[in-house]
Amino acid sequence: MALIRLDKLLSQNGERTRSESARLIRSGCVTVGGAAVRDPSAKVDADANPVAINGRAVTDEPFQYIVLHKPAGVLTAARDRSARTVMDLVPEALRRRDVLPVGRLDKDTTGLLMLTNDGELAHRLLSPRRHVPKEYLAVVDGPLTQADADAFALGLRLSDFTALPAGLTVLESTESQSRALVTLSEGKFHQVKRMFEARGREVLTLHRQRFGPLRLDMPLGAWRSLTAAEVRLLREAAQLAQD
Ligand code: URA
Repeated sequence: MALIRLDKLLSQNGERTRSESARLIRSGCVTVGGAAVRDPSAKVDADANPVAINGRAVTDEPFQYIVLHKPAGVLTAARDRSARTVMDLVPEALRRRDVLPVGRLDKDTTGLLMLTNDGELAHRLLSPRRHVPKEYLAVVDGPLTQADADAFALGLRLSDFTALPAGLTVLESTESQSRALVTLSEGKFHQVKRMFEARGREVLTLHRQRFGPLRLDMPLGAWRSLTAAEVRLLREAAQLAQD
């Protein structure tokens, strides 16, 4: 890597502005090659002398990968004039970096939502051709039977398309209510709700607990960055070459 000003290096991945970077450097928590540097204009070669903030390595990784636990009542949208969106759940620094939801969950659906600015990976994770499984826990308003599971497995015909074969595992079925796991490899608008509707059932609650190799592991409303290992698994699931 060529020499670059330290404040520029810290701001170029979008996590903070140039002036925020300069403040951070002056405060003494930035090290270059292990030694504190307090001059924002210092020229550094980050390959030869790794830069860290409070001991955490700074990379120039262009992509961000986030997972969050979406609460009900929050829109899956980049922005909305009046409603709260999933982007309100993540820090401003990520919004500045064009991080966007991968697909969408309905306003009343809870669960795992991934966000990234890696458009190619996002596109592939959603493509029905890649068969990346998305698993939902659904509560519906009546009994479910093997006939429902068979119909899901065959590929339900809906008004405007025929769904790809889907998994339906009934966990509990009573006359008034049932709980089931649904596994889809595509994600059309209101798809789970429409598939149950085609079987005469209304979805009362819907929760996504798995997205490809990712499982929901955090409280409602929380978010975290994916680990490098998780990103590798996602790229594998999306049939993308590893870097
Ligand atoms: N299917 C639905 O009907 N809604 C969702 O939010 C996700 C899948």
